[in-house]
Amino acid sequence: MIKTVEWTREGVQFIDQRKLPTEEVYVLCRNYQEVAIAIRDMIVRGAPAIGVTAAMGVALGVQQSSAKDIQALRSDFNHICQVIGETRPTAVNLFWAIRRMKDKFDAVAGQSVETIKATLVKEAQQMHVEDIAANEAMGRHGATLMPSSGGVLTHCNAGALATCGYGTALGVIRAAVEAGKQIHVFADETRPFLQGARLTAWELIKDGIKTTLIADNMAGAMMRQGKIKAVVVGADRIAANGDVANKIGTYTVAVLAKEHGIPFYVAAPWSTVDLNTPTGEQIPIEQRSAKEMTHHAGKQIAPEGVLVENPAFDVTPNKYVTAIITERGIARAPLADSLKELAGAVVSV
Ligand code: MRU
Repeated sequence: MIKTVEWTREGVQFIDQRKLPTEEVYVLCRNYQEVAIAIRDMIVRGAPAIGVTAAMGVALGVQQSSAKDIQALRSDFNHICQVIGETRPTAVNLFWAIRRMKDKFDAVAGQSVETIKATLVKEAQQMHVEDIAANEAMGRHGATLMPSSGGVLTHCNAGALATCGYGTALGVIRAAVEAGKQIHVFADETRPFLQGARLTAWELIKDGIKTTLIADNMAGAMMRQGKIKAVVVGADRIAANGDVANKIGTYTVAVLAKEHGIPFYVAAPWSTVDLNTPTGEQIPIEQRSAKEMTHHAGKQIAPEGVLVENPAFDVTPNKYVTAIITERGIARAPLADSLKELAGAVVSV
């Protein structure tokens, strides 16, 4: 399995996603500041991977703290959480992970500094294990929704590289293929960061899954030609009413899918569901650098002085979402009720 993010004795290690698919190199972050940079600069990316990385960054920072008493350790801890919390605003998994680390700190706050440090490291490692298990559970649930054969479109990268392993949307595809379904993946290239062309295509080809790369503006034509039987994507934040924030361009795909009568599925772990955010309207959308648009592979492709919009994510209203696949089960319309029901579900992944 691809080692997207790994806890090591020396620090937190990542496969450098900016360099794929031409170079497979690993980056070691030796302190929490470097981990924060790795998230911000998208060496590591994808909501679940960002969440676990945030937890590991917090654990690393706390482990290296020179604090001698709990009060000083808590002060360091709060500062580390703040730095890591300011890296990327949309994927709620980042804030979910920090919250979980805070809860863990509180739970053991009466113990020694060394015990707190060890407990936080263990918690981050546990989140890594749980993420893979959640993906495998999503795969089992979601595989049943995939067609027995034919084209499945995906947008961005919601694979092993976006998680600790196996993937959410690509986990569903992997599980369907493992179950004998003859799936042919259509991967949107996903301008401007090209997660589809660089990452999704790389992962799927490595696994021997038949994959066709298309430019984002080809999805409608492929649907019209009958080449797409289902769409499955990941998510960065799912509001309480089932509105879905995901990579910019997802909304376009969802509208196209509805027009063509094609089911549109979202696969995401429960850590992506944000019941405290009522609708997609309240989800903060990250704006990234204009250079991602005006330059390609270091080369300028747009004229100096042009205005640029570069929102990294968009929101797909719940009416376009056929179902949300989580490790707790599948939510269907009305999504608000269905998500509420899953919130109370007993979790066994
Ligand atoms: O900007 P990115 O590459 O972090 O955005 C990633 C996505 O939008 C993914 O689709 C989403 O995080 C789900 S990953 C399982």
